Amino acid sequence: MSDYKYSIEAKNVNKTFYKKNQEVKALIDFSISIKRGTIHGLLGPNGAGKSTFINILGGLVKKNSGEVNICGINIDQNIKLSKFKIGIVPQELNIDPFFSPAELLELQAGLYGVPKKKRKTDEILENLKLTEQRNAYARTLSGGMRRRLLIGKALVHDPEIIILDEPTAGVDIDIRTSVWNYIKNISKQGKTICLTTHYLEEAENLCDNISIINFGKKIIEGSKSELLSIISKKSVSFVLNKDISIPKDLDDYNPTYSDGILKLNYDKNQTNIKEIIDILDKNKIEFKEINTVEGDLEDVFLKVINNKNAKA
Ligand SMILES: Nc1ncnc2c1ncn2[C@@H]1O[C@H](COP(=O)(O)OP(=O)(O)OP(=O)(O)O)[C@@H](O)[C@H]1O
Ligand SMILES: [Mg+2]
Repeated sequence: MSDYKYSIEAKNVNKTFYKKNQEVKALIDFSISIKRGTIHGLLGPNGAGKSTFINILGGLVKKNSGEVNICGINIDQNIKLSKFKIGIVPQELNIDPFFSPAELLELQAGLYGVPKKKRKTDEILENLKLTEQRNAYARTLSGGMRRRLLIGKALVHDPEIIILDEPTAGVDIDIRTSVWNYIKNISKQGKTICLTTHYLEEAENLCDNISIINFGKKIIEGSKSELLSIISKKSVSFVLNKDISIPKDLDDYNPTYSDGILKLNYDKNQTNIKEIIDILDKNKIEFKEINTVEGDLEDVFLKVINNKNAKA
């Protein structure tokens, strides 16, 4: 097995589309390094350039410039080999309606030259909870079933990297959880996974590392916890014993008071909650309950994108 640290390494990739004579810069000097064996999330709003990047990896879109290596293989030098290293689950549900799931997986395995003995059609169908639909026409499958079948199609040649473009779009909560578990299982087998998602909960649940992109540019990249530490704002609410008027000492904390609840915001890097409680004590404000809320990835996402837009 060849030795490489990054399953996917892209440097300064540019892609411009021309739509009705208008230039659309889908990727601008886009670089990314996805560590082998990790689950990497690609996040960004609609039109950010996520699918364009994925399509470049799969050889469906040609980049204008830059370098891309897949498992250490430069795609410009050997697209055929690099394509074998990845399995892509596309964003669109493009499934031939007249084949059954089993036939589609067999066909795909044939395309990749997987010998009959090595095919895992039934195992894949079972893992994706499609055994019952094994021989049904694909056109009779629900959206969630189609999405799972597409995941199966990407796995037939046992690729080292699995790329999922919105793996759970339009999939119900139950199935979403089972797709997540399935992705985690594939990851445990040592595969590298790259996924795009609009569900921040999904990224929080699955990803080791995350890149956020917007307008074709990478805005930020880091481990999930690094990204979470960007937002240092915390909010705290006190359920009070009796009505108060807000003391001036609390002005720095954006105080609001209604229905017996006093809400304050503070920067946890600068303020210790003890300081706030001391102010309450000093003002003889008694509370019977205290709740703190920390930011999640959604806050990171909004914060970095808003900062970027504000600067632009
Ligand atoms: N084949 C194409 N021809 C012209 N423009 C394109 C083409 N493919 C993508 N684009 C444009 O490139 C930009 C990036 O699109 P892309 O599909 O990569 O975004 P995305 O991040 O995947 O968005 P979404 O979250 O909506 O899937 C968009 O402005 C899109 O309109
Ligand atoms: Mg997309």
